[in-house]
Formats: sequence, structure tokens, C-alpha cells
Amino acid sequence: MRTETPQPVRLSDYRPPTHTIDEVALTVRLAPQKTLVSARLKVRPNPKSDAGPDAPLVLDGEAIELRGIMLDGVPLAQGDYAVTDESLTIARVPAGPFELEIETACNPEANTALSGLYRSNGTYCTQCEAQGFRRITYYPDRPDVLARFTTRIEARRSDAPVLLANGNLVDSGEIEGTEKHYAVWEDPFPKPAYLFALVAGNLAVFEDSFTTMSGREVALKIYVEPGKEDRCAWAMASLKSAMRWDEETFGREYDLDIFMIVAVPDFNMGAMENKGLNVFNDKYILARPDTATDQDYANIERIIAHEYFHNWTGNRITCRDWFQLCLKEGLTVFRDQEFSSDVRSRPVRRISDVRLLRSQQFSEDAGPLAHPVRPSSYIEINNFYTATVYEKGAEVVRMLHTLIGGQAFRAGMDLYFARHDGEAVTMEDFVACMAEASGRDLSQFFAWYEQAGTPRLIVTDSYDETAGTYSLTVAQETPPTPDQPDKKPLDIPFAVGLVGPDGQEMPLVLDGEGAMERPVLELTQREQTFRFRDVAARPVPSLNRGFSAPVRLETDLGDGDWLFLMSHDSDPFNRWEAAQIYAKRLLIRLAGDASSGAPLADAPDFAEALGRSLRDQSLEPAFKAELLGLPSETDLAGEIARNVDPQAIHDARRHLQASLGRALSGELQDIYERFATSGPYSPDADSAGRRGLRNAALGLIAMADGERGAAQAFEHFRTAENMTDTIAALSALTRTNRPERDRALDAFYAAHSGDHLLVDKWLMLNAAIPFPETLERVRTLMEHEAFSITRPNNVRALIGAFAGLNPATFNDPSGDGYRLLADVVLELDPLNPQVAARLSGSFKTWRMLEPGRRALAKAEIERIRACKTLSRDVYEIVTRILG
Ligand code: TRP
Ligand code: ZN
Repeated sequence: MRTETPQPVRLSDYRPPTHTIDEVALTVRLAPQKTLVSARLKVRPNPKSDAGPDAPLVLDGEAIELRGIMLDGVPLAQGDYAVTDESLTIARVPAGPFELEIETACNPEANTALSGLYRSNGTYCTQCEAQGFRRITYYPDRPDVLARFTTRIEARRSDAPVLLANGNLVDSGEIEGTEKHYAVWEDPFPKPAYLFALVAGNLAVFEDSFTTMSGREVALKIYVEPGKEDRCAWAMASLKSAMRWDEETFGREYDLDIFMIVAVPDFNMGAMENKGLNVFNDKYILARPDTATDQDYANIERIIAHEYFHNWTGNRITCRDWFQLCLKEGLTVFRDQEFSSDVRSRPVRRISDVRLLRSQQFSEDAGPLAHPVRPSSYIEINNFYTATVYEKGAEVVRMLHTLIGGQAFRAGMDLYFARHDGEAVTMEDFVACMAEASGRDLSQFFAWYEQAGTPRLIVTDSYDETAGTYSLTVAQETPPTPDQPDKKPLDIPFAVGLVGPDGQEMPLVLDGEGAMERPVLELTQREQTFRFRDVAARPVPSLNRGFSAPVRLETDLGDGDWLFLMSHDSDPFNRWEAAQIYAKRLLIRLAGDASSGAPLADAPDFAEALGRSLRDQSLEPAFKAELLGLPSETDLAGEIARNVDPQAIHDARRHLQASLGRALSGELQDIYERFATSGPYSPDADSAGRRGLRNAALGLIAMADGERGAAQAFEHFRTAENMTDTIAALSALTRTNRPERDRALDAFYAAHSGDHLLVDKWLMLNAAIPFPETLERVRTLMEHEAFSITRPNNVRALIGAFAGLNPATFNDPSGDGYRLLADVVLELDPLNPQVAARLSGSFKTWRMLEPGRRALAKAEIERIRACKTLSRDVYEIVTRILG
């Protein structure tokens, strides 16, 4: 807990480590409340350090008890070292290599922060990224210290029959005269401490194998709680397809003889890429048709791939310091996006990525938590595992790919792997490889890593009929963000097309340059004009195709143009985008009317255009399902940006859904009937797309017609043959205020109370009910036997969903929603600061609210800040949010 004001760490203060570690031999004697760790470190002064060989050795350590310390076999006396809450310092160490042996103890059972060594439902497991290893032993806990690890684990066989760590198993057996056994694991690849992992417990295993492109056989093992083995097949299939894809797409082969995944129920995030031993939140492993939705299946495939891809982008080449987090995260998200685009539908994956970027990252970039993809300072690094680092970080890599082209990008990646394998590097190193491989100057492009805020592109056009020329003028402008008042112009790939009045694509011939090889304009100045010739008729421009740059677009296109693009654009992403923009404009007008009490109009033109798309045989069902999904309430709030009335936004969106449901009832019922599946469930993308479209239709039907809609949704629930349909029916019902809703929720809980993943779905559905009574419901559910504040999945499902997915109720004009969130943050902070900090981020858009709610929210954030014992994590978030 905090004793003084936390101080920021700055990128500009980076210094190479004074010492480096070549080898670590750990012995971990597991016991629930007192685990003994002995660490033998081979240390040597770092020749690259500017501190010289006489520098003291400072090791990080937190929440551990020091029991003994020896240097080159000689025990150190009390005066030879100093221990604080955060470190162990040895003032005088040899100028050459030496060996240090450190004995410590820690308490896994008391570790509710889930960082370091803890127990999840009885299983011992570790989480070391970013700074958890220091909670296991004293160590230079920074990513630029790379060592070879050997791990010996000892435990009672009855407590922990399975003992796992990174690398290869080299020895195991009984410990004579005890009830204990041991296992020794050796990882031949030098790695930073954040990639260390150890797991021990009573686990069942699901096995398979993979033959790599060079013909080596790799054993694949997924460990789960006993009885869950029948939910591993999809995760395994996903792993194998990711392994093959990385060989085919990037030439990357797996490098150990064994790859293990462990699924645990209590985990601070989604999953972790520890070398050879990934640890997963079990919601991203376990799946069976009757327990997991299509969305779960897709998430599992994506996250398995993400963690696997880290083996090359993150593990073999790692980050020099935590400011370079996007080096591994942005790049690995880009890689997992490309993977799903190849194995599923590219436009559908792009749409869902852009939805996520808009709802999470744009809102972050527009408020007090805005930061560059590579931040320049932090108080608590765990607060920087953000949508900006991950999602915008991936967009920046995607823009590089677009600017230099696929071939040069692959060459740049090859160069990166060849040049930096085994190193801890920076963004500059990565971009230098791309610059070299493409022969381009990427210095202006680099500002994408350093400049926060979402750029606005203001586009105007003009057509000269007699000359047959068409001009696009594009101005760029990035709004100020905290600590960055002035922005430079960025290097932006801007993909465009011109759609003729007949709906056909027109050729792109740049005046003075001839036909464009690739339809991508490069913006580098504050304002630029591009003139196209041979344009026979006035076109409608299709701008930022495929979302080629993460920007906000301002144009003077009118409603008619958007409807036109919605039906005719050859770029599928922009067809969806046109529908989104049209809906956004409509919803903002409706929200204004809702706020002032004016009657809300219907939208026959939009309904008609949607209806045409629904009947278009050339569009895939999953894409049509995306067309039916209106922009989120969060996105609309972000667009309005000032004096936001969340209830008015909610009412407007509800109204439009109901109105579309009525106008399209024929088409929707037709879809509902035609897309009913028969036969066994298959998780493939096409089948999922068909279910997705049918369930999207059901959602609108339920909104349109209170009584009959709810009855149909209830019938869908009653007859569902897979979890996808069950959850779709429940989500449709939760948006209604009809008795069927609670009947279905009660039946669901009664049927699934023994399955924690399904209980979390139930908590989330309850939290998302968009009516004021949900405030009381959430408070009551916090006392329910199914909820525990120390389980992050429970907290995210109930409280996270309430604050994130239910804006109307969270922002209740009474302020009770804010009070509830502040209460939970204050209760959780001493137990699990990482999760508490993430929850407190739900306040980040408070300044956009209308004055009444703004004052109430502010008071609750200030109440949190007033707490004297806040963790660094929550302290940093609330002080930044208050500004
Ligand atoms: N590196 C992990 C990933 O992106 C995420 C991660 C970071 C994490 N810190 C964590 C996971 C703490 C669990 C707990 O895949
Ligand atoms: Zn990652």
C-alpha cells in the first residue's frame, strides 16, 4: 500500500541494467501459505552499463520475506545489504561474474492480487507480466535482462500431482522419505523474468501433436480442471491452425519440443504468453456447443493464436523496457487479426476490429486517459495494457503494411527476426527494419507511436464537368491531448475509390501521374489536394476504405450519398461503414429529439436500404448481421462529445431498433425461418454467420413488438439447441421489460449454477438490463452465492458490464450508478489493484456528461481519490481522470 505520492517512471530516464543475469536456477517448495523459493543467480556486471562495474546491485522484490542470502557461497551479514518494501540492495559486489543465492518465502493463498505466485481454485499458478516475478524472488525484474531458467518444483503429490514450468522436462521423481515429488524444467531460451511461469495442481490433460514445417514433432498439451477435458478440442484445433498459419505466412516455426497451455478460472486478463507454458483465463479455452457461444469460439481461436504468435513477437524478440509494450502487443494483435481474416471472413473481422477500436480506443484517445501508442511516462505499467497500446498499436502496424505493401512488409519482418532474435529492442529497431526493407523514409510515420489523439480528416471535393476532373482536398488535424497541446501532421495511408452514378467503380487516374497502382493516397501535410482526371461523371467518393487509417472522417456527403454507398460501394467494409454513418447521423438527431421531448420519427429510407442489403444474395450472412448492428451508445456519446444525455441516446437507439424491426418485419421473419439450422452444431465461420444473422433478426423482432416479440424470443430460448441461441434469446429478452425476461434468466441460472463460465454470462446479462431497477439488482447480485469480489471474471461480468454495457443505468440521473462503482473500486483496491484500476477507468468519459451527471460522477471519483491507502494503480487512473 502507498505511503507517499507515487512517482512516474519516464522513458527518457532509461539506462541499461548495471548487471545482467546469465542463469537462474530456481527451487520452489510449494505450500499453500508458505512457499519457499531458493534462487541461484549467475550475475555479471553489464559492460553496456554506464554505471561502471562498482555499481551496487539493486534487485526488485515485493510482498516476499527474505530468509537468507549468500554471495559466492558466503552468507552475507546484516550490514552487507539493505531491504525495503520494494528492493534488496547489495552495496558492494565483485567487479566480475559472481553467484548469488537468495532464499525467500511467499504466501500464495493470501495473494488476491493474482500477480506473482497465487492459487486459482486450488491450482498454484504464476502471473509475472509485467512485474510479478519480483513477488516470487528478488530479481532485476525488467525485460532487458535475459537469462536461461531452470525450475525445480517440489510439492506433495496429493496436493499437486502435476508440476509444470517453462521449457523441457529434464527430471522428475519422488523425494525419498516424504509424501512429496519433484520435477525439473529447463528452458534453453534466454528470457526476461516476465515470461517465467510455474503451474502445479490436480489437472487433467488433453493432448495432441504437431509436425512443424521442418518435420519436428511437437507435443501439445492443454491442462484443465478434471472433468473439463471434453471442452478442449476447439482450443487445440485453433492452436494447430495458428501454428500452421505462422509457418505459412511468416515462415515462423515453433522452437521447443513441447507447447503447454493451462486454463485457470481466476486470472487478471485474457491470457499470458509465458515461454512454452501459456496460462489462460479458462473462458478463453473451454468450449462445447452447449456451454460456449459462437462469439466464445471465435475469441478462443483469436486468443490462442495471439498468445502462440507471441513466441516470436514478444518472446524470441522482446521489449527493451515497458514503454515499448506495443512492440509486442500491437504487432501480435495485427498478426492475430490477419490470422482470423485468413481463416474466417476478412471484412467481418475488420468490422469487428473497427467496432472495438471505436468503442474502446477512440473514447480513450478523446479523454483524460489519452496516451501515445508508446507512452513516455507511467506510474503503474499495468495501467498501460490499453486499447491504445493493443488496438491502435495494431492499426499502426497495419498502416505500415498498407504504406509499404505486403511484400516489403514480409521482408521487413524477416529482417526483424534475423537481426534481433534473442534481443530486447525498441520501436525504433522495428521501424528501422521496415524502412530498410522498403527503402522508404519512415521518420514522419514514427509520430504515430509518439503522438496521442485520434486525427480528424476533413475532406471536401469538387467536380469540373467540362475538364472531367475531380478533386479531393484532405486536411488533417489531431486534437490536443493531456501533455501534448500541439500536434504534427502524420503520414497517413488513405485508401479511396470513386463510385460512379451507375454504382460502378471508376478508374483512379491521378492528374500528372497516370493510373494509380494501388488505390492509396498518402497524406503527409496539413492539407493536400488530389486531382483525378478522366472522370466522366460526378462520383461519390468512398473514403478511408477498409479503414486504412484510424481516424475520424468529416465530409460534406449527405444522407443520400451514404445510402448510395451502402448499396453500391465495392469495398465491403465501406458498405458497412456507410450504414453506420447514416445510422449515427440519424441517431444523433433522434437523441436530440428525445432530450427535448419531441416525438421520434421513423426512418423509412434507412429501413428500405437495409432491406435491400438483406435481400442481396452476394452478401454473406455474417456481414448482414453486422449491418443490422447499430453504432453503440458509447460511440454515439463520443460523437456527441458534449453535454451528453445517456438516457436520450439509449431511447433514440431503442426507438430506431423498434422502428426498423417493424419496417422490416417481413424480411426479419423470413430470415428467422430460413436460417434455422438443423443437424449438429458446427463452430465454423459460415455456420456461425448464419446463426448470427438469425439472432440479429430476432433481436430486432423482440424490440419491435413487445408482446409477440418477447414470446418469440422466449420460444427461441426454450427450444435452443446450443449456447449461441440460448444467449441470443436471453440478450433479446434482457432488452425488454417483460415477464419472460426474468422467467428465462431464472431458468438459465437454475440449469447452469454449477458452471462458473455460464454463471458469469448470467451475471452479465443481468447487469446489462437497461432499466433503473438494475441498480438494485446489481447490488443484490453482489451478495449472491455466485459472486465473489476476488474473482476477476465475476467482477468484470457484473460490475464491468454494468459500467461498460449499460450506459443508461450506470449514468442514472440519481448518481447511484457512480456510487456503486466507487464502492466496488474502494472495496476491491486493497485486494486486487489491477482489476480495481481497470474498473475505475469506466469513469473516463465523465467530462462529456451533461452538468447534473457530471457533478455527481466527479464527486464519486473524488471520493475514491480521497482514500489515503489507494494502490498506485487506482491512484494513477483517478488522478489522470480528474486531470
Ligand atoms: N501479455 C498478455 C497478452 O497480451 C497480457 C497480459 C499482460 C496479462 N499483463 C497481464 C495477462 C497480467 C494476465 C495478467 O497476451
Ligand atoms: Zn499480447
